[in-house]
Amino acid sequence: MKKKLSVKHLLGIKSLTTEDIELILSTAEQFRDVINRPIKKVPSLRDITIANLFFENSTRTRISFELAEKRLSADTINFSAAQSSVKKGETLIDTVNNILAMKVDMVVMRHPNPGACVFLANHIDAKIVNAGDGAHEHPTQALLDAFSIQSRLGSVRGKKVLIVGDILHSRVALSNIFCLQKLGAEVMVCGPRTLMPRYIGDLGVKVEFDLRKALEWCDVANMLRIQLERQDIKYFPSLREYTMQYGLDMPLLKSIGKEIVIMHPGPINRGVEITSEVADSTQSIILDQVENGVAVRMAVLYLLAGRTDN
Ligand code: CP
Repeated sequence: MKKKLSVKHLLGIKSLTTEDIELILSTAEQFRDVINRPIKKVPSLRDITIANLFFENSTRTRISFELAEKRLSADTINFSAAQSSVKKGETLIDTVNNILAMKVDMVVMRHPNPGACVFLANHIDAKIVNAGDGAHEHPTQALLDAFSIQSRLGSVRGKKVLIVGDILHSRVALSNIFCLQKLGAEVMVCGPRTLMPRYIGDLGVKVEFDLRKALEWCDVANMLRIQLERQDIKYFPSLREYTMQYGLDMPLLKSIGKEIVIMHPGPINRGVEITSEVADSTQSIILDQVENGVAVRMAVLYLLAGRTDN
């Protein structure tokens, strides 16, 4: 198996080959063993400095990247837009170039604007990892989701994966579609017509507007939250009506009559897209996703740093 990625940056799943994804997942298997040992740290990135630039809120992704970097013995700098000179009118390139002048090797960036990471990669020398850019892509989320499906079901190939909710505004949905298809899964999306992008048919996914029918089809259901922060108009009458049509509760799940694996990228809006009973059930792998995120991000950082044998 090859040991190098075909890309310099991780800007999105779209630009990865199937071999790249398989390499990241197999490397993550090794790092999962590392982080479950009594000594959870390896010296792999000891002389590397990584800046975590978060221009948008995050809990899981920010902490997960920071932990992954620490487990690899990298030096880290954490930057949050709210406490920075961005508020004084500094441009993105000036901000990042000032940080890079302090000898930073890699940048992990979350930004509200789609394409911000691609733009940065075209203007600076450091390696860029996209930690979520607007409604565009969230590649490490898709990689950890695929890794979690593989861990629970043995393989992603041939599995039927359903993504439910606000597909229109979801970077998780887009990255998951690219990643799952490259790994040989079938993908279906389900949600209100108003939250379904017009281009969705071009992506080779099945589209279903009836949640029960969609659940009857799938092996795995990934429940997304409504991205209210990206909605400038109302796409459905009320959250209550959304929940009535697209919320997953235990009576509905049990009535399907088969064991569906339940996923959610977080943050969860309990009682809206998923009830606590489902989120905390044995069918749910939501906390496994969070745990797997550290190993997957270690794999991404390690491979991008080029610390491999050949
Ligand atoms: N899943 C995810 O990206 O969560 P955060 O927004 O908390 O990072």
